[in-house]
This record gives sequence, C-alpha cells and structure tokens, in this order.
Amino acid sequence: MIHLWQGDCLERIERLKESGITVDLTFLDPPFNQGKEYACVEDDLPEEEYWKWMHAICQATYENTTPGGAIYFMQREKNAEATLHTLRETGWVFQNLIIWLKKTSAVPGQRRFGKQFQIITFATKGKPARHFHRLRIDPPKPPNHKIPRENGIFVTDCWDDIREMTSGYLAGDEALRDKEGARLHKQQAPIALLRRILLSSTKPGDWTLDPCSGTGTTAVVADQLGRNCVAIEIDPNNVGIIDNRLKERRAADSICKHRVYYRYTPNLEESWNEQFAAQWYRENKIVH
Ligand SMILES: C[S@@+](CC[C@H](N)C(=O)[O-])C[C@H]1O[C@@H](n2cnc3c(N)ncnc32)[C@H](O)[C@@H]1O
Repeated sequence: MIHLWQGDCLERIERLKESGITVDLTFLDPPFNQGKEYACVEDDLPEEEYWKWMHAICQATYENTTPGGAIYFMQREKNAEATLHTLRETGWVFQNLIIWLKKTSAVPGQRRFGKQFQIITFATKGKPARHFHRLRIDPPKPPNHKIPRENGIFVTDCWDDIREMTSGYLAGDEALRDKEGARLHKQQAPIALLRRILLSSTKPGDWTLDPCSGTGTTAVVADQLGRNCVAIEIDPNNVGIIDNRLKERRAADSICKHRVYYRYTPNLEESWNEQFAAQWYRENKIVH
C-alpha cells in the first residue's frame, strides 16, 4: 500500500501515529540548501536554520521507527560532519557512510580536487539492525583481474555501480520529462539506488517512509518489492507527478532490469519476490 501525502513532512510525520504506522526504513533526500530552484521551499537557509530543520526531521522519524529500523540520509559530501552529528544527536546509531560515486558528473575545483561523490549515511534505531540482507552483485571484472570469481562479491560501502540521473540525454528513459523533453524534477533519484537500499534494509510487508519524495522513486520501488510506503511531498505539482508515475507504471521504472546482477545474493527470492513485481503491472493501491 502506498500513502501519498501532500504537505510539510514534519506535520505529516505526526500523522503516522494516527494512522498506526511504524516505519521500518526512511530514505531522506532533502533539498541540500545549495540555492537550487524549488517551487515550495527556500533552498538557501542560514546554515543553523537548515540543520535545525534536519534535526527535527531526523528526530520525528526516529520516534516513529521500529527498534532496529533504518534511516538512509543522503547529503552533499561537504555536509558529512553535520549529517553525522545530527543523526547522533537524534538517537540514531551509525552503521555506514556510503560513498555514492558519480559516473558522469563532478563539480570541478580550482584549488582542491573535484568532487565526484555524494554521501548516504546509513544508521539504525539502536543496534543491531532489525534486518540487513547482505547483497551480492556481479560487476564486470576489472582489466587484468586474475583471480577467478565464481559467485560475485558482497556490496560494500562504496557504490560505484549506480549511475546518477544527470542532466541531458545521459539520464536515459528513466528521467521523467514533459512533452518538450524538459525534466520534470532535476533531483530525481535512480531506481537502482532505492532498489539497493530497500533490498538491504527491508523485508516484504515493511513500511518505508520518504519525507521529501520529489518524484516518488522510493514509492515506485517499494510498490514493486511488496513494501509499503508513506511518500510525503510539499509541492502539489510533484504530488501529481508521483501519482501519475505510480499509475502509469513505465517500463523504465521496472526494478526487474538487471536482476541477474544480484543473482548470487543468498535468499534473494525472499526479499525480491518476482511475483510482487509482476503484480505491480496489474494493480497498485494509492491512499491520499
Ligand atoms: C532532493 S528532492 C527529492 C528527490 C527524490 N528523491 C526523487 O527521487 O525524486 C527533495 C524534495 O523535497 C521536497 N520538500 C522540500 N521541503 C519539504 C517539506 N518540508 N516537506 C515535504 N517535502 C519537502 C521538495 O519539493 C523536493 O521535491
């Protein structure tokens, strides 16, 4: 089941209790306070105000999370210190600082190295995590690789195999566009990113939460994996985009692409049940 709620995430998270929902995993991908254009939010707050806001979201999320439940908090690498601090202050237990290495884009630097990764901090409510599925993948072997590799490798904290949704044609058919070809949302996250996060830290039937949903990537993946999702988004226009996307079920949004890449994961079928994905094409249930 997908709950699609328009409004401010802090107010809406309060509604979780009324709805009797306890969250098992949150994907938090907020505006990064870097002066980007958002219709309903100011992305240029004083530092202190911005981190007060992040603190409030992390705290409200924590209060509504099952013991051992997870948060994956995406941020710019320059905010690593503030991110870790905010999570710790709000009770979360650090698990990993995931480096999401960009494949096609970097911010050049004149007096320092160019920046080519984003951070995703994985933390849990208490230790240990209530659920963690160790995924195995089968990336191409590097040139000159001499040791035989029969059954893939475990995913580590460096994710260099998920291409970002860059601007331009490289974003491919997954990018949501209007009739003129312009992107509907510049911060759309890739399906492959959410697929990895949800497969790692949730089971079928779990509740996921995306407080700043944008185009609803978390909900689209959750729906196909048989997880529930509360998708919150402040911009009514984006809520319309999410609603359409969930109903349209585009081939480009299918999580089934590249399943073979995960084929060496132990008990994959338990977490990634192919029937759920097949069902997705027949029905989905959206509650507003
Ligand atoms: C970085 S984008 C998220 C992109 C998303 N991960 C995706 O795959 O499309 C952040 C989103 O948060 C939304 N947002 C900003 N402030 C919010 C708030 N107070 N409550 C809910 N949503 C908010 C913005 O409108 C924007 O769409």
